[in-house]
Amino acid sequence: MKRTAPDRGPAASPSTSVNDRFLRACRRQPVDKLPVWMMRQAGRYLPEYREVRAKHPFLEMCRTPELAARVTLQPVERLGVDAAILFCDILIPVAAMGVPLKFEEGKGPMLGAGVRDSAGVKALRLPDPGKDLKFVMDAIRLLRAEFSKMGSKGVPLIGFAGLPLTLACYIIEGGKSSDFSRLKAMMKDDPTTFESLLDLLARMTSDYSRAQVEAGAQAFQFFDTWAGILTASEYERFVLPHTLKAMEGVPRSQAPVIHFAGDCRRILPFLKRMPVDVLSIDWRVPLDEAARTVGPDFALQGNLDPGALLQPIPEMEAAAAEVVAKGRAAKSHIFNLGHGITPEVKPETALALVEFVHGQKAAP
Ligand code: CP3
Repeated sequence: MKRTAPDRGPAASPSTSVNDRFLRACRRQPVDKLPVWMMRQAGRYLPEYREVRAKHPFLEMCRTPELAARVTLQPVERLGVDAAILFCDILIPVAAMGVPLKFEEGKGPMLGAGVRDSAGVKALRLPDPGKDLKFVMDAIRLLRAEFSKMGSKGVPLIGFAGLPLTLACYIIEGGKSSDFSRLKAMMKDDPTTFESLLDLLARMTSDYSRAQVEAGAQAFQFFDTWAGILTASEYERFVLPHTLKAMEGVPRSQAPVIHFAGDCRRILPFLKRMPVDVLSIDWRVPLDEAARTVGPDFALQGNLDPGALLQPIPEMEAAAAEVVAKGRAAKSHIFNLGHGITPEVKPETALALVEFVHGQKAAP
């Protein structure tokens, strides 16, 4: 495999261990430079990803450890980011529960007719991650072995899972939705069934995330992309308890935990109660405002608008500088986007962002 990550400075002699800047920042420890990685960093904006993808369907890539490992490494090699996120999808364990899953070009995920009643929920099974999702654990083991061979150019590996609300959005709607009307109808008309689905998803996620850390994931990110679709009181009543339960499986002493919520302003007061090390903030909420609301007990991650990467490099850098400046209000900052990188981004712009961030001093 190519080893083209830029030199990481004085700490980067071949004998030093892996770059731990990201893990230190998760734990609010001092770092030499601001750490940076990008959500969806292994994806279609990279020609080397498209090359693999041209030969293999997306789900096959997720389910073949060698392919998943290969594309996970691509952004580390090309961009020199400080962490790798396992290549997979939040819907992979949902398929292992018995929900039909396919991806069609331009349509996003498709999950059949949608689970909308108690018989549908009862038909779902709790997967055994070591068996039914063994390919995920194998990809993690492969990547850890690869990173240990890379010496100082190796980076920590982040495992991930979706949180119950976001998974339920896809399971109930049967795919993507613009208004989540079926989920909201089920929550109001049949709260018992709705909660039994969220409870099952919480148990699945807890087992699945623990298994990833046992296999070698060194940090863990929980994605709740659709956390912002409900009112604050609905979130507190229906979502928060299952979210807390879903996150129970990861031993935080072994792997710091990151919570990402899309459109998080409404739920910021609840984020303060999350048993996590890092809060990943979407691009709509400035990091200084988030820091004031959640207090000093969290590192913050984020939150450049992914749209800034479509601008010419000087404009992108100006937007990134603003994020860096606001991030100084947090006890510790991990630079990232406020959501996933999009396929239209030029790899040169992504590289320019990583180099720009590495040129910034870490918060004192
Ligand atoms: O971040 C990474 O590089 C790791 C891989 C990763 C993927 N999906 C790969 C992917 C991660 C962490 C995810 C998480 C995910 N998947 C989320 C939560 C984060 C977010 O972006 O909101 C959600 C909601 C999904 C579900 C999903 N998967 C959707 C809605 C889509 C279609 C949208 C799209 O970009 O096409 C996917 C497909 C998907 N997941 C792709 C990738 C690289 C594109 C598939 C392809 O190559 O055709």
